[in-house]
Amino acid sequence: MEIRIFRQDDFEEIITLWERCELLRPWNDPEMDIERKMNHDPDLFLVAEVGGEIVGSLMGGYDGHRGAAYYLGVHPEFRGRGIANALLSRLEKKLIARGCPKINIQVREDNDVVIGMYERLGYEQQDVINLGRRLIEDEEY
Ligand SMILES: CC(C)(COP(=O)(O)OP(=O)(O)OC[C@H]1O[C@@H](n2cnc3c(N)ncnc32)[C@H](O)[C@@H]1OP(=O)(O)O)[C@@H](O)C(=O)NCCC(=O)NCCS
Repeated sequence: MEIRIFRQDDFEEIITLWERCELLRPWNDPEMDIERKMNHDPDLFLVAEVGGEIVGSLMGGYDGHRGAAYYLGVHPEFRGRGIANALLSRLEKKLIARGCPKINIQVREDNDVVIGMYERLGYEQQDVINLGRRLIEDEEY
């Protein structure tokens, strides 16, 4: 398994992976999300590759204060082999190298598998609520 930075020619494969991982939301156009990422810290957008196939993804970011991660997904047939752990640990190393002091992750409240996974990795639930406001409406996907 190799972890590497997303390349433009991964575009279609990664969207198919996100579909399989049920990471797509009607209010996020994945193509636009990738385009935006290509213009902002593209080397924090990581993929996991096995035998030439993309089986995992993690879109990281750093805004100068906190790090973040989105689109964590591993192909169902490749789960339970440490691929998500490896993606997160690579991102953490990259963030530390940039001097990023903390990473914040948003997880849906009912996603017990992922919450358990993050807790085992040393992430703590914090007493905050997330406020968000859409600034640009994407085409419905
Ligand atoms: C969450 C997800 C990325 C985990 O990927 P993965 O490659 O299987 O995870 P790993 O093999 O690295 O396992 C990480 C930890 O989670 C645990 N884990 C993984 N899948 C699990 C499952 N279905 N049930 C219970 N625990 C599980 C592993 O035991 C491991 O714990 P450990 O490090 O203590 O052994 C994958 O299940 C997925 O793509 N889910 C759908 C998309 C999603 O919900 N993404 C998160 C959005 S916030």
